[in-house]
Amino acid sequence: MIDFAGKSHLNKNDLDGYKLIGDGKDGEIYQIAEDKCVKYFFKEETQQKELEALKVGQSSPIFPGLYEYGDNYIVMQYVEGVSLARHLKKEKQISKALTAKVIALLQELQRVGFTRWDTEIRHILIAQDHQLKVIDHKRAFSTKTHIPTKLFKGLKKYDVLDEFLEYVKELHPSSYQDWMNKK
Ligand SMILES: Nc1ncnc2c1ncn2[C@@H]1O[C@H](COP(=O)(O)OP(=O)(O)O)[C@@H](O)[C@H]1O
Ligand SMILES: [Mg+2]
Repeated sequence: MIDFAGKSHLNKNDLDGYKLIGDGKDGEIYQIAEDKCVKYFFKEETQQKELEALKVGQSSPIFPGLYEYGDNYIVMQYVEGVSLARHLKKEKQISKALTAKVIALLQELQRVGFTRWDTEIRHILIAQDHQLKVIDHKRAFSTKTHIPTKLFKGLKKYDVLDEFLEYVKELHPSSYQDWMNKK
């Protein structure tokens, strides 16, 4: 295994032999241990944004733990589980208990100080202990959320938005009111 401690820069070939578990627009994610993965960034600027957000989030259980980083990579907790997107695609419904967890997650994002406390359903991971974790935070401080439109869009895609909002109305009426007024 690569010795990340004190490594300032990661070369692509350092990752040879590791399992690629995700590749997005901003980087590639490799699993490097049972409970750790590394996000290799194409741009250092994106790494800085995500690192800042992850540092801020460390006081909250909804963020993956942060282990090591250099200018173009971050080693974080590997979250084993399925994304909310995959879950909804399979289940075609959202439970009241899961809605409550999603509301709590949005509240945590606000509590730690993110100005963007919206997220996409593919970036919410349901861990094996059924707790939610949220990943991919480059926009945490660069945009401002009034209502979580990205989340709504994802829920709508799987036809569970009305069900979700009905539960929000019950569980957290002030958020429901607030979101409806701004819609
Ligand atoms: N901490 C993690 N634990 C488990 N899987 C992860 C983790 N971080 C990223 N992934 C996987 O890699 C994919 C891409 O990660 P993401 O951070 O969204 O990259 P990008 O910024 O390029 O969009 C995710 O959708 C997820 O499947
Ligand atoms: Mg992403």
